Amino acid sequence: MKVLLADDEKTITITLSDAIRSKGHQVMVVYDGLSAIKALEEEDFDCVLLDLKMPGQDGMETLRQIKQIKPETSVIIITGYGTVDTAVDALKHGAYDYVQKPFYNEEILLILERIEKYIVLRDEYRGIRESLETIPQYGRIIGKSPRMVEVYQLIEKVAASDCNVLIEGESGTGKEIVAETIHEKSQRRNYSLIKMSCSVMPETLIESELFGYEKGAFTGALTQKKGRFELADKGTVFIDDIDDMSPTTQMKFLRVLQEHSFERVGGTQTIQVDIRVIAATKKNLITLIKQNLFREDLFYRLNVVNIKLPPLRERIADIPLLLEHFIKKYSNEKKYEITSDTLMALSNYLWPGNVRELENAIERAITMTGESNVLKKEDLLKSPLTSIQEKDIFALDKYLAHVEAEYLRKIFAHTKGDKNEICRLLNISRKTLWTKLKQYSIE
Ligand SMILES: Nc1ncnc2c1ncn2[C@@H]1O[C@H](COP(=O)(O)OP(=O)(O)OP(=O)(O)O)[C@@H](O)[C@H]1O
Ligand SMILES: [Mg+2]
Repeated sequence: MKVLLADDEKTITITLSDAIRSKGHQVMVVYDGLSAIKALEEEDFDCVLLDLKMPGQDGMETLRQIKQIKPETSVIIITGYGTVDTAVDALKHGAYDYVQKPFYNEEILLILERIEKYIVLRDEYRGIRESLETIPQYGRIIGKSPRMVEVYQLIEKVAASDCNVLIEGESGTGKEIVAETIHEKSQRRNYSLIKMSCSVMPETLIESELFGYEKGAFTGALTQKKGRFELADKGTVFIDDIDDMSPTTQMKFLRVLQEHSFERVGGTQTIQVDIRVIAATKKNLITLIKQNLFREDLFYRLNVVNIKLPPLRERIADIPLLLEHFIKKYSNEKKYEITSDTLMALSNYLWPGNVRELENAIERAITMTGESNVLKKEDLLKSPLTSIQEKDIFALDKYLAHVEAEYLRKIFAHTKGDKNEICRLLNISRKTLWTKLKQYSIE
């Protein structure tokens, strides 16, 4: 990014600009507000770091002018200690964020990282809106980030071969859609893709589902039933949540992979099948092997090719494509807009539920929006707990102090500074009050 640093304290500008450059950004330094405006008139910057107290023009006025001539530029305010009110005022006037002196350079580098993410998302979003091309996709899989392109190349290779595949990825990253794509592109596409999840089901049920059973194998087995391996003959079997498979089933499953044969539950006849297995897991199987919860030999049989699906937060450049795709899917032809403020929130969100969560968010937001054609941030990112931003995470003591200071200021204003009244209301001693007012610079 191109960063403009406006601060009259030389020591700050030297160490801070070094720190910013070390992250690969370009930095230009100016020492007063007017020079900052002049620099912005001459060239574009992605971000301005603006000290509010500089000689000459007032910092708020400088901020106002920046927002007027270059509204797209993100402005980070640098304020003196104990001037939170001014900082909040600056946020209202369009500043992106603020830091208080004295600050650690890392605080600013973190904010720059967030701005950079937002810029990636915003540019991508614009690109998509401006081009009339259809959304690029691989089969039914959306995404063009390098990590996804690698996945496509792997799918391509795997589809041409007949080996087993292990797909790893967090919840909602697209493991199932990848398995389907492999099957659809493979030689086996004219035969069945049979799916089976190992989660939540008891071991005996999983076995009778996978291997089938003979009449009378157990109470309730009134007729013979074919298992999924048999049904998938010449096709593909997708075993989801393989990490949940019990040790006995793992052993029987290993035999299927090694010898392509098995017996139905309660049966003696050996059945031969020709299947390709695609397994999926949210957990790291190597860790489970070390804990003796997963068979190493089974792991190597499955992991002939390994496809790792990146979480959404590591490929945020794909978010705009997915947004457009899901809006199309749920909107009934209606066009929707997303404001830059919302894009900013989406770019900083961690997406624990990945693509599935994004899809649900869009469906929900479209329902909530009603007549309007602007998708609202609150509808997209509903839960404040999961949408907590990194910048909102402090150590507990810092957080409590923050809440305490805010509450004290409120009470202070409410009582017009009547210390007797404050002590009475808060049930604290004069001494405690005095210490706290001093600590938080409340006067
Ligand atoms: N890259 C993608 N492009 C389009 N749709 C996607 C993509 N990834 C996931 N989806 C959609 O998101 C939803 C979740 O995907 P999928 O079921 O494949 O995830 P998963 O990894 O199997 O999740 P889980 O581990 O929770 O079972 C599905 O509706 C799927 O179609
Ligand atoms: Mg799944």
